[in-house]
Amino acid sequence: IPVDTFDLVIFGGTGDLARRKILPGLFRRYCAGQMPPEAKIIGAARSEMDAAEFREMVREAIGEFGSAPQSAGQLDAFLERVFYEAVDAKGDGGWDALKSHLRDDAVRAFYFSVAPSLFGDIAERLNHKGLSTPDSRIVVEKPFGHDLASAKALNATLAQYFDETQIYRIDHYLGKETVQNLMAVRFGNTLFEPLWNAQYVDHIEITVAETVGVGGRGAYYDKSGAMRDMVQNHLMQLLCLIAMEPPAKFEPDAVRDEKLKVIRALDPVEPQDIVRGQYGAGGGEDSYKTHVENDRSRTESFIALKAQISNWRWAGTPFYLRTGKRLRARTSDITVVFKDAPHSIFGADAGRHRNVLSIRLQPNEGMTLDVTIKEPGPGGMRLIDVPLDMAFADALGTDTEAVPDAYERLIMDVIRGNQTLFMRGDEVEAAWAWTDPIIEGWEARGDVPVTYDPGGSGPEDALMLLHRDGRRWREIKV
Ligand code: BG6
Repeated sequence: IPVDTFDLVIFGGTGDLARRKILPGLFRRYCAGQMPPEAKIIGAARSEMDAAEFREMVREAIGEFGSAPQSAGQLDAFLERVFYEAVDAKGDGGWDALKSHLRDDAVRAFYFSVAPSLFGDIAERLNHKGLSTPDSRIVVEKPFGHDLASAKALNATLAQYFDETQIYRIDHYLGKETVQNLMAVRFGNTLFEPLWNAQYVDHIEITVAETVGVGGRGAYYDKSGAMRDMVQNHLMQLLCLIAMEPPAKFEPDAVRDEKLKVIRALDPVEPQDIVRGQYGAGGGEDSYKTHVENDRSRTESFIALKAQISNWRWAGTPFYLRTGKRLRARTSDITVVFKDAPHSIFGADAGRHRNVLSIRLQPNEGMTLDVTIKEPGPGGMRLIDVPLDMAFADALGTDTEAVPDAYERLIMDVIRGNQTLFMRGDEVEAAWAWTDPIIEGWEARGDVPVTYDPGGSGPEDALMLLHRDGRRWREIKV
């Protein structure tokens, strides 16, 4: 569906996120015919350069991180829609020139792809220098605060200049195809929802495993760790979508109200219900400490924890969350393990059988439902569990290349003015309110993460976290 014409200003237009995700994503939308021909993309950053130099940078970025143009001239035509202005975020330089690009009859969006310490300066200048209008949108990226106090301060700063309906806080997990599919599966079928509660669900597991280490992001990561980098936002959002009550409508506030209730119903997590890990050296790569150049680092690159939601739907059903770097495979999935049948008519010999619904976010998005059937053959009533397995790409014949990636979808939602897949300020604050005491506890106790070998499933203690409860994680498989 085409969107209205727009002027999109990217502050930090020469930065890593812009080069890797935002600009290649916009080019893909252009190739898909979704970007109106007169739409403009205006890079803004500190460096002095002209539009031609910026276009060259964009061309290289698309060459490196984007998809190849489908026809000759397509990339050139796209680059004609790209402009650049050098601006001084903390001063007066460049703002008038930037303003001269903006049209009155186009949607205005300002993407803050810069350090959060600049959010206030940029917001203030957009306002005072007359670049923003009551209908303009701003897009902000994580980290949205470092803790509750800093998140509140950021929200308050932005609120001085923008209404909540103008603020789009990106959590790119919400833009992933399968994450949205979670809502379709839950609320589009009658099959699952009646069973989606503590009476029928034994436990839920959310795993986001990565093979990469911290790469060149050591300076940022060492101050954050997996809890702030992944759990407070991405895993929390997944948890909310899995656990929330059905919203009355698929509309921004209806969905976000329900998510907020989940976060607020989370119990504090006890120290014995958390395992923190840090990867050692191995597989031809250095250790975490070497990567972040900090011998004494106590930051976790892995975390596993048991969360409990105290409400009528979920009391008694644990949610086990796990995420880490340098693990065996890059896989993300959500697994819902249903309880045993109340009574086995087949006797104790039939063994234990459970229905398990697993939703794979990446790679190879799909769903598997384990069902119990009779093992074929003459051996009597022997039961086995078989997967009903569906890879969405196979089942739907989807060309995965054509499916917009998370950033593309979310940027187009900004232009459409649809906030459903963006975090509201109170959600972010509630997530920090749950996270803060956990991190403060580690600091107060001087907690040191255990070292784990790269290429595996994280520390042994994380396995124990479930064994203790008579359960086990799904295997992290290549
Ligand atoms: C980012 C984190 O938000 O998400 C990174 O800062 C992490 O540390 C990344 O690697 C994972 O995203 P994806 O889309 O690759 O699963």
